Amino acid sequence: MTKFAQVQQQLTEQPKVWLVTGVAGFIGSNLLEALLELNQTVIGLDNFATGYQHNLDEVQHQVSQEQWQRFTFINGDITDFATCKTAVHGVDYVLHQAALGSVPRSIADPLTTNSTNISGFLNMLMASASANVKSFTYAASSSTYGDHPALPKVEQHIGAPLSPYAVTKYVNELYAQVFARTYNFNCIGLRYFNVFGQRQDPNGAYAAVIPKWTDAMIHNNEVFIYGDGETSRDFCYISNTIQMNILAAVAPDTAKNEVYNVAVGDRTSLNELFSAIQQALAQNNVEYNTPAVYKDFRVGDVRHSQADITKAKTKLGYQPKYTVLQGLALAMPWYIEQTSKQTSKQTSKQTSKC
Ligand SMILES: NC(=O)c1ccc[n+]([C@@H]2O[C@H](COP(=O)([O-])OP(=O)(O)OC[C@H]3O[C@@H](n4cnc5c(N)ncnc54)[C@H](O)[C@@H]3O)[C@@H](O)[C@H]2O)c1
Repeated sequence: MTKFAQVQQQLTEQPKVWLVTGVAGFIGSNLLEALLELNQTVIGLDNFATGYQHNLDEVQHQVSQEQWQRFTFINGDITDFATCKTAVHGVDYVLHQAALGSVPRSIADPLTTNSTNISGFLNMLMASASANVKSFTYAASSSTYGDHPALPKVEQHIGAPLSPYAVTKYVNELYAQVFARTYNFNCIGLRYFNVFGQRQDPNGAYAAVIPKWTDAMIHNNEVFIYGDGETSRDFCYISNTIQMNILAAVAPDTAKNEVYNVAVGDRTSLNELFSAIQQALAQNNVEYNTPAVYKDFRVGDVRHSQADITKAKTKLGYQPKYTVLQGLALAMPWYIEQTSKQTSKQTSKQTSKC
């Protein structure tokens, strides 16, 4: 039995109270679904800055009515300390996901990113420490490796940040270290490496590459690659990320006050990713034969990214279950279904206008 299977069994036998911030977002809503499926009680906090009610509605459809009744939603902002204090009341484990993601967004508007990702983070940290929660696990980021050239990325070797977003995620780690020293409050930071899967938003200027390209291919639109396509990433399917969050939350004190890479430990270039999405769609009878269009490199983008996941394996018992290709195969039907839902909505709007 894997460590994760053991933990899942323990939680099912002795359910706990969890707070998921950013619960209406991609990772948050998937955490919500996984926790409710384990019969946990979940409080969710979100202000819908980049999250959606339809993500919560989808979780409601996935779980039983009894499980859904164990969920309480707070529509609130983490930049408001009083809201954070209310949200952590009676909570065992905090999974702090709320933040403004995207490197380009942070370059366009560093003030708002700073306010949510640093002030909001500090509010959540302070509220959680004061409430004596059992653990505080937060979404850190692989962007913290900045310009450090080494591959694969090992937790203790970081470079200079390349964007305001990367600064905010590094400051989170610094605050977590200081809280451990000053208040004896030990947290775990999870440096996510390009997470993907169901419910990741394909829309808007700041969409991540996999949902953006998938959506473009389904709609038969052009796909743009920034740079020569040899830029590479360690793409990590959402279920692996959920596994890490749950393992981190229940980890013993000896594994806390640390940061961990969350990835597969593999590297896929953008050119390889383009073909992989094409093939995964073809397996679902969606053909896309237009070549990609190459554009200039984007400012702030790291050239290569690949994680060393030894620490997560050794100290937390993490075993990533899905490769990129397996993850893409699981995510594609969801994207295709979303498109057909959008199309039928548009058709019924047009019909009602006639
Ligand atoms: N997706 C990735 O590949 C990736 C990689 C590295 C780090 N991360 C981090 O993981 C976390 C979750 O990312 P995601 O991909 O699910 O993004 P997302 O945008 O889908 O989710 C973030 C959620 O936080 C909410 N939020 C934003 N500001 C808020 C505020 N002030 N108060 C309350 N809620 C607020 C949003 O409405 C949204 O629902 C973020 O902290 C992000 O920085 C994600």
